Amino acid sequence: MKTLNIGVIGLGEIGQKHCQALAGIRSAKIVAVSDINEDVLNKTAQQYQATPYQDYKDLLKHTGIEAVVVATPDDFHRDPCVAAAKAGIHILVEKPIATTEEDAQAIIDAAEEANVKLMVGFTLRFVPHYQKAKEAVQSGQLGQVISVFARRLNVISQAERINGRCGVLHFLGIHDFDVLRWIVGSEPVSIYSEASTSVERKFPHEDETFSIINFANGVVACAHIGWNLPKNHPGGRDFKLDISGNQGCLNLDLATQGVKIYTQSGHKFPSTAPGLAEEDRVFVECVLDDKPVPVTGQDGLVALRMVNAALESIEKKAVVYL
Ligand SMILES: NC(=O)c1ccc[n+]([C@@H]2O[C@H](COP(=O)([O-])OP(=O)(O)OC[C@H]3O[C@@H](n4cnc5c(N)ncnc54)[C@H](O)[C@@H]3O)[C@@H](O)[C@H]2O)c1
Repeated sequence: MKTLNIGVIGLGEIGQKHCQALAGIRSAKIVAVSDINEDVLNKTAQQYQATPYQDYKDLLKHTGIEAVVVATPDDFHRDPCVAAAKAGIHILVEKPIATTEEDAQAIIDAAEEANVKLMVGFTLRFVPHYQKAKEAVQSGQLGQVISVFARRLNVISQAERINGRCGVLHFLGIHDFDVLRWIVGSEPVSIYSEASTSVERKFPHEDETFSIINFANGVVACAHIGWNLPKNHPGGRDFKLDISGNQGCLNLDLATQGVKIYTQSGHKFPSTAPGLAEEDRVFVECVLDDKPVPVTGQDGLVALRMVNAALESIEKKAVVYL
Protein backbone atom coordinates (compact mmCIF):
# COMPACT_ATOMS: atom_id res chain seq x y z
CA MET A 1 0.00 0.00 0.00
CA LYS A 2 1.26 3.49 -0.90
CA THR A 3 1.71 5.84 2.07
CA LEU A 4 1.75 9.62 1.96
CA ASN A 5 4.39 11.32 4.12
CA ILE A 6 2.67 14.37 5.49
CA GLY A 7 3.48 17.31 7.77
CA VAL A 8 1.16 19.52 9.78
CA ILE A 9 2.01 23.23 10.13
CA GLY A 10 0.12 24.96 12.97
CA LEU A 11 -0.86 22.72 15.88
CA GLY A 12 -3.66 24.72 17.49
CA GLU A 13 -7.32 23.73 17.75
CA ILE A 14 -7.78 22.47 14.19
CA GLY A 15 -4.16 21.39 13.64
CA GLN A 16 -4.60 18.91 16.52
CA LYS A 17 -7.77 17.58 14.89
CA HIS A 18 -5.93 17.12 11.60
CA CYS A 19 -3.22 15.17 13.44
CA GLN A 20 -5.88 12.93 15.02
CA ALA A 21 -7.60 12.45 11.66
CA LEU A 22 -4.39 11.72 9.74
CA ALA A 23 -3.24 9.28 12.42
CA GLY A 24 -6.39 7.29 11.67
CA ILE A 25 -5.69 7.07 7.92
CA ARG A 26 -3.69 3.96 7.06
CA SER A 27 -2.31 5.45 3.86
CA ALA A 28 -0.94 8.56 5.61
CA LYS A 29 2.03 8.99 7.93
CA ILE A 30 2.62 12.18 9.91
CA VAL A 31 6.39 12.54 9.53
CA ALA A 32 6.81 16.12 10.77
CA VAL A 33 4.95 18.83 12.68
CA SER A 34 5.59 22.55 13.11
CA ASP A 35 4.47 25.22 15.55
CA ILE A 36 6.11 28.31 16.99
CA ASN A 37 4.84 27.25 20.42
CA GLU A 38 7.57 24.92 21.66
CA ASP A 39 5.47 23.13 24.30
CA VAL A 40 2.66 22.29 21.92
CA LEU A 41 5.19 21.34 19.26
CA ASN A 42 7.13 18.89 21.39
CA LYS A 43 4.00 17.34 22.93
CA THR A 44 2.42 16.79 19.53
CA ALA A 45 5.63 15.49 17.96
CA GLN A 46 5.95 12.97 20.77
CA GLN A 47 2.30 11.92 20.54
CA TYR A 48 2.52 11.19 16.81
CA GLN A 49 6.19 10.18 16.69
CA ALA A 50 6.88 12.94 14.20
CA THR A 51 9.91 15.23 13.88
CA PRO A 52 9.31 18.67 15.45
CA TYR A 53 10.25 21.90 13.65
CA GLN A 54 9.72 25.29 15.19
CA ASP A 55 10.32 26.89 11.78
CA TYR A 56 7.96 25.58 9.09
CA LYS A 57 10.68 26.22 6.45
CA ASP A 58 12.76 23.47 8.07
CA LEU A 59 9.76 21.12 8.04
CA LEU A 60 9.54 21.62 4.27
CA LYS A 61 13.09 20.24 3.98
CA HIS A 62 12.25 17.05 5.93
CA THR A 63 13.48 14.09 3.88
CA GLY A 64 10.68 12.41 1.97
CA ILE A 65 7.89 14.82 2.94
CA GLU A 66 5.24 14.90 0.18
CA ALA A 67 2.32 16.95 1.51
CA VAL A 68 1.38 19.41 4.25
CA VAL A 69 -1.71 20.56 6.08
CA VAL A 70 -1.46 24.31 6.72
CA ALA A 71 -3.46 25.17 9.85
CA THR A 72 -1.84 28.43 10.92
CA PRO A 73 -3.98 31.50 11.79
CA ASP A 74 -6.22 32.82 8.97
CA ASP A 75 -3.91 35.67 7.98
CA PHE A 76 -0.78 33.51 7.91
CA HIS A 77 -1.47 30.98 5.16
CA ARG A 78 0.35 32.59 2.23
CA ASP A 79 3.98 32.17 3.31
CA PRO A 80 3.83 28.48 4.30
CA CYS A 81 1.64 27.59 1.29
CA VAL A 82 3.84 29.38 -1.26
CA ALA A 83 7.00 27.92 0.29
CA ALA A 84 5.45 24.42 0.27
CA ALA A 85 4.48 24.77 -3.40
CA LYS A 86 7.98 25.96 -4.30
CA ALA A 87 9.38 22.88 -2.53
CA GLY A 88 7.09 20.67 -4.68
CA ILE A 89 4.90 19.72 -1.70
CA HIS A 90 1.12 19.19 -2.03
CA ILE A 91 -1.07 21.40 0.16
CA LEU A 92 -4.28 21.12 2.15
CA VAL A 93 -4.84 24.64 3.49
CA GLU A 94 -7.41 25.46 6.13
CA LYS A 95 -10.21 27.87 5.29
CA PRO A 96 -10.18 30.75 4.57
CA ILE A 97 -7.53 30.15 1.89
CA ALA A 98 -6.28 33.62 2.96
CA THR A 99 -7.80 36.84 4.22
CA THR A 100 -6.90 38.92 1.15
CA GLU A 101 -7.55 38.07 -2.49
CA GLU A 102 -3.93 38.94 -3.30
CA ASP A 103 -2.66 36.31 -0.85
CA ALA A 104 -5.18 33.75 -2.14
CA GLN A 105 -4.11 34.36 -5.73
CA ALA A 106 -0.42 34.07 -4.79
CA ILE A 107 -1.12 30.66 -3.22
CA ILE A 108 -3.08 29.49 -6.28
CA ASP A 109 -0.39 30.72 -8.69
CA ALA A 110 2.42 29.09 -6.71
CA ALA A 111 0.58 25.74 -6.65
CA GLU A 112 -0.15 25.94 -10.37
CA GLU A 113 3.42 26.86 -11.26
CA ALA A 114 4.81 24.01 -9.18
CA ASN A 115 2.10 21.60 -10.39
CA VAL A 116 1.24 20.55 -6.82
CA LYS A 117 -2.26 19.84 -5.52
CA LEU A 118 -3.94 22.60 -3.56
CA MET A 119 -7.10 21.77 -1.62
CA VAL A 120 -9.00 24.16 0.65
CA GLY A 121 -10.45 22.79 3.90
CA PHE A 122 -14.15 23.45 3.45
CA THR A 123 -15.12 20.75 5.94
CA LEU A 124 -18.88 21.00 5.40
CA ARG A 125 -18.50 19.48 1.95
CA PHE A 126 -17.42 16.29 3.74
CA VAL A 127 -20.18 16.20 6.38
CA PRO A 128 -22.68 13.47 5.37
CA HIS A 129 -25.75 15.68 6.00
CA TYR A 130 -24.52 18.41 3.66
CA GLN A 131 -23.51 15.76 1.13
CA LYS A 132 -27.10 14.42 1.23
CA ALA A 133 -28.39 17.93 0.60
CA LYS A 134 -26.08 18.31 -2.39
CA GLU A 135 -27.19 14.89 -3.71
CA ALA A 136 -30.87 15.80 -3.30
CA VAL A 137 -30.36 18.93 -5.40
CA GLN A 138 -28.11 17.28 -7.96
CA SER A 139 -30.43 14.31 -8.51
CA GLY A 140 -33.31 16.68 -9.26
CA GLN A 141 -35.47 15.37 -6.37
CA LEU A 142 -36.29 18.92 -5.32
CA GLY A 143 -36.86 20.15 -8.87
CA GLN A 144 -35.32 23.52 -9.57
CA VAL A 145 -33.92 25.28 -6.52
CA ILE A 146 -35.74 28.50 -5.68
CA SER A 147 -34.08 29.63 -2.46
CA VAL A 148 -31.70 28.47 0.28
CA PHE A 149 -31.31 29.53 3.91
CA ALA A 150 -28.15 28.69 5.86
CA ARG A 151 -27.44 29.27 9.53
CA ARG A 152 -24.17 28.90 11.44
CA LEU A 153 -24.23 30.12 15.02
CA ASN A 154 -21.48 29.26 17.49
CA VAL A 155 -20.93 29.98 21.15
CA ILE A 156 -19.37 33.28 22.15
CA SER A 157 -16.33 31.43 23.57
CA GLN A 158 -15.24 30.65 20.00
CA ALA A 159 -14.79 34.38 19.33
CA GLU A 160 -13.02 34.77 22.69
CA ARG A 161 -10.70 31.86 21.87
CA ILE A 162 -9.34 33.51 18.75
CA ASN A 163 -9.30 36.83 20.58
CA GLY A 164 -10.62 39.11 17.85
CA ARG A 165 -8.15 37.84 15.24
CA CYS A 166 -10.89 38.10 12.62
CA GLY A 167 -14.64 38.53 12.35
CA VAL A 168 -17.32 35.87 12.21
CA LEU A 169 -17.67 36.02 8.42
CA HIS A 170 -14.04 35.05 7.72
CA PHE A 171 -14.07 32.42 10.46
CA LEU A 172 -17.52 30.82 10.11
CA GLY A 173 -19.45 32.51 7.31
CA ILE A 174 -17.03 31.38 4.65
CA HIS A 175 -18.11 27.76 5.30
CA ASP A 176 -21.72 28.56 4.46
CA PHE A 177 -20.92 30.89 1.58
CA ASP A 178 -18.98 28.02 0.01
CA VAL A 179 -21.75 25.51 0.77
CA LEU A 180 -24.38 27.79 -0.77
CA ARG A 181 -22.36 28.17 -3.98
CA TRP A 182 -21.73 24.38 -4.04
CA ILE A 183 -25.38 23.47 -3.42
CA VAL A 184 -26.81 26.09 -5.79
CA GLY A 185 -24.26 25.17 -8.46
CA SER A 186 -23.99 28.71 -9.74
CA GLU A 187 -21.75 31.73 -9.21
CA PRO A 188 -22.67 34.53 -6.80
CA VAL A 189 -23.64 37.79 -8.48
CA SER A 190 -24.35 40.13 -5.60
CA ILE A 191 -24.42 40.30 -1.80
CA TYR A 192 -26.21 42.53 0.64
CA SER A 193 -25.24 42.10 4.30
CA GLU A 194 -26.19 43.70 7.60
CA ALA A 195 -24.48 43.26 10.96
CA SER A 196 -26.24 43.69 14.29
CA THR A 197 -25.09 46.60 16.43
CA SER A 198 -27.65 46.36 19.24
CA VAL A 199 -25.20 45.02 21.83
CA GLU A 200 -21.71 46.38 22.51
CA ARG A 201 -19.17 44.10 20.86
CA LYS A 202 -16.15 42.60 22.60
CA PHE A 203 -14.05 42.75 19.41
CA PRO A 204 -14.03 45.31 16.61
CA HIS A 205 -15.53 42.96 14.00
CA GLU A 206 -18.99 41.91 12.85
CA ASP A 207 -20.33 39.19 15.17
CA GLU A 208 -23.90 38.50 13.98
CA THR A 209 -24.88 38.98 10.35
CA PHE A 210 -27.50 38.32 7.71
CA SER A 211 -26.42 38.17 4.06
CA ILE A 212 -28.69 37.98 1.02
CA ILE A 213 -26.86 36.44 -1.92
CA ASN A 214 -28.13 36.38 -5.51
CA PHE A 215 -26.75 33.68 -7.79
CA ALA A 216 -26.40 33.81 -11.59
CA ASN A 217 -29.09 31.13 -12.03
CA GLY A 218 -31.66 33.26 -10.17
CA VAL A 219 -31.52 31.45 -6.81
CA VAL A 220 -31.68 33.76 -3.80
CA ALA A 221 -29.99 32.67 -0.57
CA CYS A 222 -29.81 34.01 2.96
CA ALA A 223 -27.02 33.22 5.42
CA HIS A 224 -27.39 33.92 9.15
CA ILE A 225 -23.93 33.82 10.70
CA GLY A 226 -22.98 34.63 14.27
CA TRP A 227 -21.15 33.57 17.43
CA ASN A 228 -23.36 34.79 20.24
CA LEU A 229 -24.81 31.55 21.61
CA PRO A 230 -24.45 31.28 25.39
CA LYS A 231 -21.42 29.35 26.65
CA ASN A 232 -23.65 26.74 28.27
CA HIS A 233 -25.48 25.95 25.01
CA PRO A 234 -25.67 22.12 25.09
CA GLY A 235 -24.37 21.71 21.53
CA GLY A 236 -22.32 24.86 21.19
CA ARG A 237 -23.79 25.23 17.73
CA ASP A 238 -26.94 25.93 15.74
CA PHE A 239 -26.38 24.87 12.14
CA LYS A 240 -29.19 24.73 9.58
CA LEU A 241 -29.78 24.51 5.85
CA ASP A 242 -33.24 24.86 4.29
CA ILE A 243 -33.65 24.39 0.56
CA SER A 244 -36.87 25.24 -1.33
CA GLY A 245 -37.31 23.77 -4.79
CA ASN A 246 -40.24 23.79 -7.19
CA GLN A 247 -40.73 20.02 -6.65
CA GLY A 248 -39.76 19.64 -3.01
CA CYS A 249 -37.85 20.99 -0.05
CA LEU A 250 -35.08 19.90 2.31
CA ASN A 251 -34.41 20.82 5.94
CA LEU A 252 -31.08 20.06 7.59
CA ASP A 253 -30.69 20.69 11.32
CA LEU A 254 -27.37 20.02 13.04
CA ALA A 255 -28.07 21.83 16.30
CA THR A 256 -28.42 18.56 18.19
CA GLN A 257 -26.89 16.12 15.67
CA GLY A 258 -29.25 13.41 16.90
CA VAL A 259 -27.81 12.56 20.34
CA LYS A 260 -28.94 14.42 23.48
CA ILE A 261 -27.45 13.63 26.87
CA TYR A 262 -29.20 14.94 30.02
CA THR A 263 -27.44 14.61 33.36
CA GLN A 264 -27.68 16.13 36.85
CA SER A 265 -25.06 18.67 35.83
CA GLY A 266 -26.66 19.73 32.56
CA HIS A 267 -27.32 18.75 28.94
CA LYS A 268 -24.94 17.97 26.13
CA PHE A 269 -25.53 17.47 22.41
CA PRO A 270 -22.21 15.92 21.31
CA SER A 271 -20.86 16.36 17.82
CA THR A 272 -21.66 13.29 15.73
CA ALA A 273 -21.15 14.73 12.27
CA PRO A 274 -17.41 15.19 11.81
CA GLY A 275 -16.23 15.98 8.30
CA LEU A 276 -12.55 16.55 8.94
CA ALA A 277 -11.50 12.88 8.88
CA GLU A 278 -13.18 12.43 5.50
CA GLU A 279 -11.69 15.70 4.19
CA ASP A 280 -8.18 14.51 5.11
CA ARG A 281 -8.83 11.02 3.72
CA VAL A 282 -9.95 12.48 0.38
CA PHE A 283 -6.91 14.79 0.21
CA VAL A 284 -4.53 11.89 0.87
CA GLU A 285 -6.29 9.78 -1.77
CA CYS A 286 -6.16 12.59 -4.36
CA VAL A 287 -2.42 13.02 -3.87
CA LEU A 288 -1.60 9.30 -3.85
CA ASP A 289 -3.80 8.51 -6.86
CA ASP A 290 -3.03 11.78 -8.65
CA LYS A 291 -6.72 12.73 -8.84
CA PRO A 292 -8.11 16.29 -8.96
CA VAL A 293 -9.00 17.64 -5.52
CA PRO A 294 -12.74 18.23 -4.91
CA VAL A 295 -12.26 21.70 -3.37
CA THR A 296 -9.89 23.90 -5.34
CA GLY A 297 -7.96 27.08 -4.66
CA GLN A 298 -10.46 28.81 -6.95
CA ASP A 299 -13.32 27.62 -4.68
CA GLY A 300 -11.40 29.14 -1.79
CA LEU A 301 -10.90 32.40 -3.67
CA VAL A 302 -14.57 32.78 -4.66
CA ALA A 303 -15.75 32.13 -1.08
CA LEU A 304 -13.22 34.70 0.15
CA ARG A 305 -14.50 37.23 -2.41
CA MET A 306 -18.02 36.61 -1.09
CA VAL A 307 -16.90 37.30 2.49
CA ASN A 308 -15.00 40.41 1.50
CA ALA A 309 -18.00 41.64 -0.51
CA ALA A 310 -20.26 41.01 2.50
CA LEU A 311 -17.92 43.07 4.69
CA GLU A 312 -17.91 45.86 2.12
CA SER A 313 -21.71 45.72 2.01
CA ILE A 314 -21.94 46.04 5.80
CA GLU A 315 -19.64 49.06 5.70
CA LYS A 316 -21.35 50.80 2.77
CA LYS A 317 -24.89 49.65 3.59
CA ALA A 318 -25.27 48.80 -0.08
CA VAL A 319 -25.52 45.84 -2.42
CA VAL A 320 -22.06 44.76 -3.61
CA TYR A 321 -21.70 43.14 -7.04
CA LEU A 322 -19.14 40.40 -7.50
N1 LIG B 1 -12.36 23.67 9.16
C1 LIG B 1 -12.79 24.05 10.33
O1 LIG B 1 -13.85 23.66 10.79
C2 LIG B 1 -11.92 24.98 11.14
C3 LIG B 1 -12.14 25.12 12.52
C4 LIG B 1 -11.31 25.97 13.24
C5 LIG B 1 -10.31 26.68 12.59
N2 LIG B 1 -10.15 26.55 11.24
C6 LIG B 1 -9.10 27.31 10.53
O2 LIG B 1 -7.83 26.74 10.85
C7 LIG B 1 -6.84 27.76 10.96
C8 LIG B 1 -6.25 27.70 12.37
O3 LIG B 1 -7.27 28.00 13.30
P1 LIG B 1 -7.21 27.49 14.81
O4 LIG B 1 -8.54 27.77 15.37
O5 LIG B 1 -6.65 26.10 14.87
O6 LIG B 1 -6.15 28.52 15.39
P2 LIG B 1 -5.24 28.34 16.69
O7 LIG B 1 -4.88 29.70 17.13
O8 LIG B 1 -5.90 27.43 17.66
O9 LIG B 1 -3.95 27.60 16.12
C9 LIG B 1 -3.01 28.20 15.25
C10 LIG B 1 -1.65 27.58 15.56
O10 LIG B 1 -0.72 28.06 14.58
C11 LIG B 1 0.50 28.29 15.26
N3 LIG B 1 1.36 29.17 14.47
C12 LIG B 1 1.28 30.53 14.34
N4 LIG B 1 2.27 30.96 13.52
C13 LIG B 1 2.97 29.85 13.13
C14 LIG B 1 4.10 29.64 12.28
N5 LIG B 1 4.75 30.66 11.71
N6 LIG B 1 4.55 28.38 12.10
C15 LIG B 1 3.92 27.33 12.69
N7 LIG B 1 2.85 27.48 13.52
C16 LIG B 1 2.37 28.72 13.72
C17 LIG B 1 0.09 28.88 16.60
O11 LIG B 1 1.12 28.80 17.56
C18 LIG B 1 -1.12 28.00 16.93
O12 LIG B 1 -0.73 26.84 17.67
C19 LIG B 1 -7.55 29.07 10.64
O13 LIG B 1 -7.38 29.34 9.28
C20 LIG B 1 -9.01 28.77 10.95
O14 LIG B 1 -9.94 29.56 10.25
C21 LIG B 1 -10.92 25.70 10.53
